[in-house]
Amino acid sequence: MLNETTTATEADFAIENFTVSDAELPEFKDLKFENINELHIDHPGANDAEYRTRRDYIAQCAKSFRETGKITDVDYNAREQRVWRYVAEELEELQQKYASPFYLRAKKDLGITTERIPQLSEMNRRLKELTGFRLAPIEGLVETRGFLSWLSYRVMLCTQYIRHHSHPAYTPEPDIVHEAIGHIPMFTNPNFADFSQFIGHGARIATDEQLEALGRLYWFTVEFGMVEHEGEIKAYGAGLLSSFGELEHAFSDQVERRPFNLEQVINHEYTYSDMQPVLYVIPSYAELKEITKNIESF
Ligand SMILES: [Fe+2]
Repeated sequence: MLNETTTATEADFAIENFTVSDAELPEFKDLKFENINELHIDHPGANDAEYRTRRDYIAQCAKSFRETGKITDVDYNAREQRVWRYVAEELEELQQKYASPFYLRAKKDLGITTERIPQLSEMNRRLKELTGFRLAPIEGLVETRGFLSWLSYRVMLCTQYIRHHSHPAYTPEPDIVHEAIGHIPMFTNPNFADFSQFIGHGARIATDEQLEALGRLYWFTVEFGMVEHEGEIKAYGAGLLSSFGELEHAFSDQVERRPFNLEQVINHEYTYSDMQPVLYVIPSYAELKEITKNIESF
């Protein structure tokens, strides 16, 4: 089991058991999808027939999950593996400097290496042992409420396809690099897992306006969060950890790094497509959980 050693206050909070048994899990068939059969015209792979064929194959793997409940491993080809190796190596170097130590240990523990694309099935096994979180493959973007609601069951919906080889540093949508290098390691943290589940509970009952507030909380933590570690600031958000540009930018003097304040965060409007000028630093994962545990009463 990974232990959190970020601050002395970690031990002050008991870790409850919020795990969800197989029997309590709703059917994956109930998921609502946005139109995922189209690649936007500005997507780097939009006009590449071979890439689109690969996307269709990988989408089929995700679809079969909803029929069988079993994750199908993707048979990634050599070109896809090359894209992974390039991006994973570049990120690894930057992460050694900027990533949260918890995240770095968790990535190793899950067997995520620079050598090959990890399968959701293998990461899932370890993740379930550690925090009871599980991964469910999806073939594309799910609407916000649906996506966040699944966190209430300790389920993270994950894509399996990889970005187009012509732009390895960029993806207009979440891909396996973003999921496996960005998101998945943090779900091995019990406090972070519980916090994510709180967002999920909130999303299930939120009004549209409250859902926007939850979306902003998700954005400034799960995607772009920073954490204090022994007097230094480190990154734990997936949007930072899976992008060279975002990660370097986050630590540059163009960014104001503010202490986390829940009220400010849920009211902080951001532009999705721009680099973030303001980021929020949590004191620890335990405190993030503590601050957000009454999220349903927003
Ligand atoms: Fe993400």
